Amino acid sequence: MPATIVMGGQWGDEGKGKLTDALAAEADLVVRANGGANAGHTVQTEQGAFKLHLIPCGILHANCESIVGAGVVVDPRRMLEEMDHLAERGIPLDRLRVSERAHVVLPHHPILDGLEEAARLEASIGTTLRGIGPAYSDKVSRRGLRMADLVAPSALRARLGEELPRWNRILSDVYGAESLDRDRLYDELASYGERLRPYVGPTEPIVADALDQGQQVIVECAQGAMLDIDYGTYPYVTSSSTTAAGACQGAGVPPTSIERVLGVFKAYSTRVGAGPLPTELHDATGDLIRERGREYGTTTGRPRRTGWFDAVAARYVVRLNGVSDVAMTLLDVFDVFETIDVCVAYDLDGEILTTVPTRVEDLARATPVYERLDGWQTETSAARRANDLPPRALDYLDFIEDRIGARISLVGVGPDREQIVEIPATSQTMVPGALA
Ligand code: GDP
Ligand code: IMO
Ligand code: MG
Repeated sequence: MPATIVMGGQWGDEGKGKLTDALAAEADLVVRANGGANAGHTVQTEQGAFKLHLIPCGILHANCESIVGAGVVVDPRRMLEEMDHLAERGIPLDRLRVSERAHVVLPHHPILDGLEEAARLEASIGTTLRGIGPAYSDKVSRRGLRMADLVAPSALRARLGEELPRWNRILSDVYGAESLDRDRLYDELASYGERLRPYVGPTEPIVADALDQGQQVIVECAQGAMLDIDYGTYPYVTSSSTTAAGACQGAGVPPTSIERVLGVFKAYSTRVGAGPLPTELHDATGDLIRERGREYGTTTGRPRRTGWFDAVAARYVVRLNGVSDVAMTLLDVFDVFETIDVCVAYDLDGEILTTVPTRVEDLARATPVYERLDGWQTETSAARRANDLPPRALDYLDFIEDRIGARISLVGVGPDREQIVEIPATSQTMVPGALA
């Protein structure tokens, strides 16, 4: 039965948490596909804000099972902290499962993340320092530890024996940093493994059974397509596959089971960390977006860089991922704007581009070509149906739909659970790639 992918269409923090939560209300299973504790997914409930990093947003719904998929890298200490925090707030954890195939973020990974960032000097990526890059590097070079190893003391001891000497050589010989003590490391990890053991197992059959039984499965992605390791603004990217294809891989959901790819986009652009953001605003307008959108990182608290909506990047993402429909969040941020610009092309040394150049140096040099739309200057936060939205807000949505080649089916008008407007399909429903 059909699965839905909830994926970020920009540079992360688009509101995937809120959308996953909204869809989870009617779903049976939420599987997180990629990334690790670099993610921060906010869900604003009657109980206040929940900021989830590793645990799927389905955990907030009694009807939902929550699975951390094989594509995720799990920092066991952070996972336990998050579990404790949820338990303290009365959220039951009995429906949480972690794939035993998921790789472990080990104590040397955040250390290496920091050392590598420092060594890059001005070219640093601005990572979240959660050890994500080093953990995926160990995974891909077939030197990682998996959750199955963490929860089995003899396997844990054996794998540390095999790998630790090399990690310590990198720490001490390459970076002059302190090496790790094997016994202390074993004791620390074994205690995490002990506590996590009841949650760890083969989750792939759970997902397959749910699909077989026609249950509703949501795949929750982390980050955004423009941070994808293959298709993002490399090297200013994260180290996992953040795309719809990556979602299938990381969640263990077959591509043939996907019915819907919901691309979550903000009404404007943000980015945390380094790397090109073609529409970035370094002025009072950028500040206004940041303040109205409360654009400060969920994981690191860093102010997010802000800019106008980039329809060139968005169209690239829609086509690459077969985005079937779009959730446009944070529309309410524009409620006070007189005019709103949308980037419809890039100018690269006089050449007009309508797709994203491969080299970041080119993307950084490209200047956006804007079209200016009238703002609606009306509060939208109380809107619940399309008819409640001001005509100029609907014009903004129409304009973006035309430019990116996907239908906007949901609109966010505030952080709260109920602040979502469903836009009914019309006869002119766009299909992905219609403008190709
Ligand atoms: P995620 O990483 O994609 O889940 O997004 P984050 O949670 O990091 O950042 C999105 C932020 O925007 C959160 O603080 C949400 O509570 C908030 N948010 C989500 N949708 C809306 C919306 O439609 N309007 C407003 N004002 N805030 C929203
Ligand atoms: P969610 O799931 C926004 C960014 C970092 C940095 C780059 C690489 O909340 O949307 P990493 O620590 O992954 O090696 O950092 O990616 N980044 C995010 N930006 N939202 C996220 O997650 C992010 N996860 C990583 O800021 O630029
Ligand atoms: Mg986030």
